[in-house]
Amino acid sequence: MSDPSPGPVVPGSLPQRRAGGLSLPVLSLGLWQNFGHGVPFADQRRLVLHAVERGVTHLDLANNYGPPSFAAEESLGRLLATDLRHVREQLLVTTKAGYGAWAGPYGEFGSAKYLTASLDESLRSLGLDAVDVFYSHRYDARTPLEETIGALGRALDAGKARLVGISSYSARRTAEALEVARGLGVHLAVHQPSYSMVNRWVEEPGDDGRSLLDVAAGAGMAVVAFSPLAQGLLGGRYSHGIPDDSRAARGGPMRPEWLTDETLAHVSALEAVAREGGRTLAQLALAWVLRDPRVTTVLVGARTTEQLDDSLRVADGPALSEEELATIEPHAVDAGINLWASRSSDL
Ligand SMILES: NC(=O)c1ccc[n+]([C@@H]2O[C@H](COP(=O)([O-])OP(=O)(O)OC[C@H]3O[C@@H](n4cnc5c(N)ncnc54)[C@H](OP(=O)(O)O)[C@@H]3O)[C@@H](O)[C@H]2O)c1
Repeated sequence: MSDPSPGPVVPGSLPQRRAGGLSLPVLSLGLWQNFGHGVPFADQRRLVLHAVERGVTHLDLANNYGPPSFAAEESLGRLLATDLRHVREQLLVTTKAGYGAWAGPYGEFGSAKYLTASLDESLRSLGLDAVDVFYSHRYDARTPLEETIGALGRALDAGKARLVGISSYSARRTAEALEVARGLGVHLAVHQPSYSMVNRWVEEPGDDGRSLLDVAAGAGMAVVAFSPLAQGLLGGRYSHGIPDDSRAARGGPMRPEWLTDETLAHVSALEAVAREGGRTLAQLALAWVLRDPRVTTVLVGARTTEQLDDSLRVADGPALSEEELATIEPHAVDAGINLWASRSSDL
């Protein structure tokens, strides 16, 4: 990992896309997997400062990022109190509540009690008065949408969130949430769904024929596409087994059983397309998600500064040609890796 430049951090700049009242760099950094207590703070610091210096000014968090819960927010909070203090308002700091953050019925899902308490705890961890976006992290069939969206609205009214959004809601639930939000006078600015060459659920038509991308972009929401590298499957690291330092080897949410012969054959074909175009597989995967103008940014989970730099080459690289897109199409098939389906978007 390369060290940050000496002296005060100077944020770089990247091409921006605008939607939902936000201007987002085309590439954003998520702090889901590489910012827990098991990762030295010095490595976390190096990665975040490097990202900001390269123009990756959108930093995405959630209450459950760590482990333990709130650990990633505490890490970023340390940086916001020191190295990044003078550039706070050049950054977009986002967080979420929806998955398990503490024990009991009010430690996850979509109740107003949980969302409100969690946002307060996130702000304490980050050392901030407000986040830039606060999300309902998942659809919760047991809580009325009026309650969940109402809690988001009150976070706006209290000045604790500057914008609010939803994550992993299906096309149908997004349309419902937008309707409820309209009734409550709440502006839902952002949707954060998973999307990659091997996880294309956001393109699938819903009950009324519209896909999630149609619904979200049709309502003017920004679309923040997460896991665009399918947690590393599209990073080209698994062609010859499972490397020791990879996410699949660490026993986390990247499951080794996803690495079937069929999926690896598609990945290998995609690698050939990437090579032919002078790209890495990761660059091909990111350029592919960004080919759709309805996507506002790709949210990557780089583990090292080298991975981030590799991914950043898409920001000023050429778009994929029609010929490349056509060659990719038969291999951009669902690999059954959408962890968030049964817990949100299928509900
Ligand atoms: N809203 C939600 O429910 C939700 C859910 C999941 C994630 N997210 C957000 O999305 C962010 C990104 O998710 P993710 O970590 O799954 O994203 P990802 O970018 O698809 O996967 C990250 C992994 O890909 C590998 N990688 C990254 N850059 C690479 C490169 N240039 N070349 C080769 N391999 C590369 C690394 O794997 P190795 O570690 O194996 O090297 C890295 O850990 C999260 O941090 C979080 O902010 C949101």
